[in-house]
Amino acid sequence: MTAIRIEPGWRLPERLASPESVYLDRRRLLSAFGLGALTAGLGSAWPAAAAARAADRARISEPALGERYAELFPAERNPTYALGGRRTTPEGAAAGYNNFYEFTTDKERVWELAQGHPVDPWSIRVTGLVKKPRTLGLEELFKLFPLEERLYRFRCVERWAMQVPWTGFPLRRLIERLEPLSSASHVRFVSILDKSRLPGQTAYAWYPWPYYEALRLDEAMHDLAFVALGVYGHALPMQHGAPWRLAIPWKYGYKGPKSVVEIEFVDREPGTFWNEASPTEYGFFSNVNPDRPHPRWSQAAERDIGTGESRPTLLYNGYAAEVGELYTGREF
Ligand code: MTE
Repeated sequence: MTAIRIEPGWRLPERLASPESVYLDRRRLLSAFGLGALTAGLGSAWPAAAAARAADRARISEPALGERYAELFPAERNPTYALGGRRTTPEGAAAGYNNFYEFTTDKERVWELAQGHPVDPWSIRVTGLVKKPRTLGLEELFKLFPLEERLYRFRCVERWAMQVPWTGFPLRRLIERLEPLSSASHVRFVSILDKSRLPGQTAYAWYPWPYYEALRLDEAMHDLAFVALGVYGHALPMQHGAPWRLAIPWKYGYKGPKSVVEIEFVDREPGTFWNEASPTEYGFFSNVNPDRPHPRWSQAAERDIGTGESRPTLLYNGYAAEVGELYTGREF
């Protein structure tokens, strides 16, 4: 990393303050994609959208893999994972407001810039402290385990939140299959690196590309840690991290790396992308915690991107009963 450092989007609460009303207008509009209705008032609040919306509606949720593996979706919903009274976020809202810095830091443009990014073939290197280093392909990833749908709460460190139906399988099942050595204590996930196709990796050259994240092995083996291959009943569109990403619902969203190409087992706590980029602001564990403010903003409340409503942040994003025992209270 160079000494020059530009603030990531979520480090600019003032910037979020005014665009938030703008994005919520667009989000309401996009929400209409999910609800199948659009009011004239919202259309005129975003005139360009009126012309774009028919095309957007078709393209915004398109799986990056096209028809490949379409027969595996929708998977049966597992009723164990409910939202505690919250409503599922409309698809257009979740699909039109993303963090995927490899493409752009402009959340509303990610989906468009990510269109057409190639994800097939795709290989995942399995390295480090593992019985047999190997490479996994898409066929194995999609066919190894039965797929299920889970409704998960999602909370970004920037304070926006949503409720999403992910399709996939527990990460634990994959880890068991990969057979880490008993000396492995943590698992790293590395996202794609491709400067020729991912403009953010050149435009934001000060970041320690490629994106990488990690979990302690007991966290990764927790039933809630999920390999997501699909969302809203179909394979992932690129902006959500096709062909696969992690969904770790009790942690801030950045702990869910997208478009992963390497899984590495290691014997100590590894560095992470955001911790390396800004060590005083982003810790390793990054569990959602209303009582632990970000150095520059409170985490006491969050805003639902589907409804625009504010509500109190929940400890571990509402999963304290499930994951609380993993922590002594000193991990952040
Ligand atoms: N993974 C990669 N490779 N690159 C990213 O920029 N952003 C993270 C996470 N995974 C990111 C990533 C952040 S900050 C968030 S909040 C979530 O992805 C956003 O997921 P979504 O866009 O599917 O809602």
